[in-house]
Amino acid sequence: MHKTNCLIIGGGLAGLYVALQIKDKNVTILTKKDIKKTNTYLAQGGIAAEMTSDISSLEKHINDTLRAGAWHNNQEATKNLVFEAKENILELIDLGVNFDKDTKGQIYRTLEGGHSTSRILHAGGDATGKAIMDALIAQVLSKDNIEIISDSMAIDLLVDNNTCYGVTYLDNEENLKHIYSDVTVVATGGLGGIYKFSTNPKYATGDGIGLVARANGELSDLEFIQFHPTAFYDSLEKNQCFLISEAVRGEGAYLFNSEGERFMKSYSDLMELAPRDIVSQSIIKEMYDTWNVCVYLDATHLGIEKLKRRFPTIYGECLKRGYKMEQDLIPVIPVQHYSIGGIKTDLLGKTSIQNLYANGECASTGVHGANRLASNSLLECIVFGNRIARDINSSKESIKEFEKVQIPQNLNISYKPVKIEIAEIMDKYVGVIRTKEQLEIAKKIVKKHLENLKRNPNNSKNYYQVLNIATSAYLVIESAIARPKSIGCHYII
Ligand code: SIN
Repeated sequence: MHKTNCLIIGGGLAGLYVALQIKDKNVTILTKKDIKKTNTYLAQGGIAAEMTSDISSLEKHINDTLRAGAWHNNQEATKNLVFEAKENILELIDLGVNFDKDTKGQIYRTLEGGHSTSRILHAGGDATGKAIMDALIAQVLSKDNIEIISDSMAIDLLVDNNTCYGVTYLDNEENLKHIYSDVTVVATGGLGGIYKFSTNPKYATGDGIGLVARANGELSDLEFIQFHPTAFYDSLEKNQCFLISEAVRGEGAYLFNSEGERFMKSYSDLMELAPRDIVSQSIIKEMYDTWNVCVYLDATHLGIEKLKRRFPTIYGECLKRGYKMEQDLIPVIPVQHYSIGGIKTDLLGKTSIQNLYANGECASTGVHGANRLASNSLLECIVFGNRIARDINSSKESIKEFEKVQIPQNLNISYKPVKIEIAEIMDKYVGVIRTKEQLEIAKKIVKKHLENLKRNPNNSKNYYQVLNIATSAYLVIESAIARPKSIGCHYII
């Protein structure tokens, strides 16, 4: 029997940071893929943090977060996010993360959309996620109290009387196994895989939402899907779109429509650095009005030297696709990027199920309101990760052994057609601009798939991934229908 004190489902920043803050307890990290294959790895822009105790600076970060979030935010959670930023960034530095520095050795800070001041820290130019993850993985691998079980997918929480005692999972050979744990943390990342076009890898299939929905836990704010304004537009690109970081606009790049107009002047005084919902909605309107498939990002005036130094990854990826950033306009479109809602948590990351916590993109702490301020998500992972770990460090043993009755069959079925249909429906009808009629059409189609899947259970990873996709998509649509008025990134006409 496999027992642990703290089980963490997910190996991105939200999971590893909690693992590293747990003291004197055994920790088990369960990851669906290799530990290097997480969404955090792809994070380019950075991590927003006021590295000061100056109240007026902290208040500005709070106000920017609330304004971007259309004041739908949980204000207490937002205050914690901002006030506890510095101590957690210093902890990351202690763990070996090297943030980029200027010539005087000070941490370099940049601007992104919705921020009234330069407070975004980054690493490796535009490879912040990778730099953080490389440091944290090295730490995790060096700890005797942490074990990692990779290529293994959590399929159901072991819940009895609204208390979580661990998880049932399929291991690397799809054998059904259990882990019993005093506490469990869901840190499974996003749900971009429910859309056809997303900046997320396709294995971001809303697994945490699926796990908690099946255990009747509380979810919230799922209608708030953030679309990143500037993914590279490539008519041949499949599913995962290459992101052109908001930091490129933060360093001064402009947006033009196909008629050569710098159109953001018609939508916001903040121009290209308006909050993400405004920029994405403006781009979609411009694409309709100009009958074009994309708009264009102009970074030519930043110069080749700065572009290569500051954005080595983006520069290289654009070059691979035939674009020189110092001379070409880059075609861009908004695509799904981030799930703001998710598993509802309190200020300590606790869910509605006893002994179950959630952290990172799969959680809904309320800090992002109706639209996330750029680069606040990595910060959320560490601030709330630290809060969760503090709570777990003071928790007691609570093991209970029981087996969840599971259908033993593992049929080799391809669910690809179902995935494709749901993803196309989500892009078409549950995108940046929504209508009630289109949401109802989407609901009907996704509901049919969800019911079929539930009627025909199958203990395979493919089955559970598509079940999580259908569950998450259905809940996003239901939440969108339940909110008839536009707010933040839920824009309904
Ligand atoms: C970006 O680099 O534009 C993405 C950062 C974020 O989503 O916060």
